[in-house]
Amino acid sequence: MKTWHGHFLAALAAGLFLTGCNKPPTGSDAGSDTLKIGEFASLTGSEATFGQSSHKGTQLAIDELNAGGGLLGKKIQLLTEDNQSQAGQSATVVRKLISSDGVEAILGEVASSRSLEAAPICQQNKIPMISPSSTNPKVTETGDYIFRVCFIDPFQGTVMANFARKTLKLQNVAVLTDVKSDYSLGLAKFFKAGFTAGGGKIIAEQNYSGGDKDFNAQLTSIKAANPDGIFVPGYYTEVGLIALQAKQLGIAVPIFGGDGWESSSLVPIGGAALEGDYFSTHFSPQDTSPAVQNFVKGYKAKYNETPDAMAALGYDSAMMLAESIKKTSSTDAVKIRDALAAEKDFPGVTGNITMDANRNASKPAVILEIKDGKFQYVETVSP
Ligand code: PHE
Repeated sequence: MKTWHGHFLAALAAGLFLTGCNKPPTGSDAGSDTLKIGEFASLTGSEATFGQSSHKGTQLAIDELNAGGGLLGKKIQLLTEDNQSQAGQSATVVRKLISSDGVEAILGEVASSRSLEAAPICQQNKIPMISPSSTNPKVTETGDYIFRVCFIDPFQGTVMANFARKTLKLQNVAVLTDVKSDYSLGLAKFFKAGFTAGGGKIIAEQNYSGGDKDFNAQLTSIKAANPDGIFVPGYYTEVGLIALQAKQLGIAVPIFGGDGWESSSLVPIGGAALEGDYFSTHFSPQDTSPAVQNFVKGYKAKYNETPDAMAALGYDSAMMLAESIKKTSSTDAVKIRDALAAEKDFPGVTGNITMDANRNASKPAVILEIKDGKFQYVETVSP
């Protein structure tokens, strides 16, 4: 016999079926005066600075577009959902943006694992999705509605492998990987391939899981192997703690990594232990080109802070989407998708963006050094 909550669950399940994933007919194309764009981001939680920065850059682009009259004669409405940096939440909020809000396209995410959660949902519903900053190759492999405006990790891994071999002149390196993160696993793999191809040796490999706080066991093993550098393809919260604990164990060799290091919270966590460490990323606000300086000026005026890579990529993702909608003069998803796929030399603040056959952008990487508690520009590496 069914209890009352049995009935309740059945009713709930029926409700869930009714609010399936099909785009409702009442989207912005149905005579409304706004054009809805969805965004999902880690506004809170362990990667909060990723989502905050990316959102601020995205919002700045939308504000500029609206100040210029909007799109297709309509104001753009940016609907932003917070996934709290938590696994599972991106799928939930992206389903909501598509089925309840009726957005025309989705912008997000920074972290590859979260983009990978949302991409199949966008693909199934034929909603174009642009990841501003996810670099794992699998993201766009999900399908032909999934794009990104950043480079991918086979490139980023090679850049840091060459930098370690040729500039830092490292021979024996240890790698410390976050096995819960698609980004970390991918970047570790591509770095190792590049570093060994260049004649270097990987002499120790250790793992952790995002959210861990104690890295002493892994660092003790790494210390025993006596490497002359440690590659940590992680996110800033763990990277800061790893640098700190490495210093406390007396490890004095450089630690280096990828774009996941970039955060205004990295130095507050890792402090002086990070001095002389390096990471690769997509953008430097110290770039003197007029496009970058103009963006930096606009961002500072609005937020009273200097933009980082996530902010710049968020801005570029929104601007490139707008450009494609403008070109097609419609909100037809197939047409928007085709226009995105055909983007060529789009002038982004993170460089010119051309979509390749796999919907990825091929762009230069920037290497930064942590010096006097600040991120200092070292060099730009072109593909
Ligand atoms: N590339 C990282 C990922 O795919 C995210 C990231 C991009 C973090 C840019 C910081 C800056 O997970």
